[in-house]
Amino acid sequence: MAGIHASPAELLASLPTAERQKAIESLSLETKAQLAHHWPFWARQNQREPEGDDWVYWLILAGRGFGKTRTGAETVRQWVKTCEMVNLIGATVDDARDIMIEGESGILAICPNDERPVYRKNESKLLWPNGAVSLVFTADAPERLRGKQHMRLWADEMASWRYGEAWDQAKFGLRLGPHPRAVITTTPRPVKNIKDLVKDRATIVTRGTTYDNRANLAPTFFEEIVKRYEGTRLGRQELNAEILEDVPGALWTREMITHLPASALPPMKRIVVAIDPPATSGESSNEAGIIVDGLGEDGRAYVLADRSGVMTPREWAVAAVTAFREFEADRIVAEVNQGGEMVEQVIRSVDTHVPFKAVRASRGKYVRAEPISALYARGLVDHVGQFEALEDQMCSYTPDFDRGNSSPDRLDAHVWAMSDLFPSMVAEKKSPLTRPKLQGPNGLGAQGWMAR
Ligand SMILES: Nc1ncnc2c1ncn2[C@@H]1O[C@H](COP(=O)(O)OP(=O)(O)O)[C@@H](O)[C@H]1O
Ligand SMILES: [Mg+2]
Repeated sequence: MAGIHASPAELLASLPTAERQKAIESLSLETKAQLAHHWPFWARQNQREPEGDDWVYWLILAGRGFGKTRTGAETVRQWVKTCEMVNLIGATVDDARDIMIEGESGILAICPNDERPVYRKNESKLLWPNGAVSLVFTADAPERLRGKQHMRLWADEMASWRYGEAWDQAKFGLRLGPHPRAVITTTPRPVKNIKDLVKDRATIVTRGTTYDNRANLAPTFFEEIVKRYEGTRLGRQELNAEILEDVPGALWTREMITHLPASALPPMKRIVVAIDPPATSGESSNEAGIIVDGLGEDGRAYVLADRSGVMTPREWAVAAVTAFREFEADRIVAEVNQGGEMVEQVIRSVDTHVPFKAVRASRGKYVRAEPISALYARGLVDHVGQFEALEDQMCSYTPDFDRGNSSPDRLDAHVWAMSDLFPSMVAEKKSPLTRPKLQGPNGLGAQGWMAR
């Protein structure tokens, strides 16, 4: 059945068999061949470029699999017909190459032979047959965008960009030609760039869901993402493209998390890598949380990296030791509740000498996380770039979170790292009975200043 945004292709498919066959038979062989690459035939209404001249930003907020990348690529293909320079910005170098350019719905795949550009990978550019050029930028290297000018831009998955200021640079340079324009295709997250764009009067917002594109998604893909997200809070974002507001009662709000470019980082006094190993490896899709946090010479804390992921024990040990070396960290801290001695053994099998500290949770997660949230509230923590998965976990962490089906592994690791950097904030309360005596029998006992 054709939906409310139906494309001509879908309308054709929804005709009764006899009528449909007649319509298809009336087409010449050549027309049929052309239709395969004729976007106006395939595009649903919410995938068509808005009409009129009074907009600068076309913001497509849509669920996974909606056809965002396809729409962005098709829009670029259309734009190069009249603009000599239509540039691309991907979240990372890999994403720009593997998704926007070489992906299944990327530029090379959607163009017919006579329109397909040549991809100069080493120069990060596309050369179109008509002479137009596309420069390829990425949001993890925002400095490359500085001083660059654009006639048109396509930005993919902007809500996941590590450095939001890439968009400031891009916007600033969007001023060549009579109609500077950008198409922004992304699954939404409640981040500043997206909220600002939605409010901007020069923006046209188009929305769509994963379900809109069901007919074109592999059934296994559709079932897998729908199974993972349907009925969950995150599903409203990932499938229906809602911009989720703050979770009532969560320990963090979006506002509390401030972002800093790497260039503004002060020298570090101490750096720790913390691991929250998954309960079981293998069949479970639990992630290993691996977070690198640092204490600056200015007394403030900085989140430096998130290396978490679904990994085997060997893999997370390698990832942690690699991060330890890369950041010249002071030690690795790991939660050993479930794995016992196994955790240290796995780490030691990768590096025998790495400074290692096992930590055990004697108090609940929420109680451990609270003082860390307080540090944020006092403005003592910055994130060096956006860590979307970690920040999502932080901003949805409520006292009853543990009853949910996913566990906040990245947040756990982060809390362990911060606890190591700010030991006084998380020290167990000492009962009066166990408080060390200040004086020994001779007045200079082992508990006194000499013992330090
Ligand atoms: N209107 C459409 N008609 C046919 N196929 C489409 C349409 N929109 C998207 N697709 C296809 O659906 C798949 C998912 O699209 P993609 O752009 O990768 O989704 P997203 O970026 O939103 O996750 C791709 O194979 C794409 O070519
Ligand atoms: Mg995509």
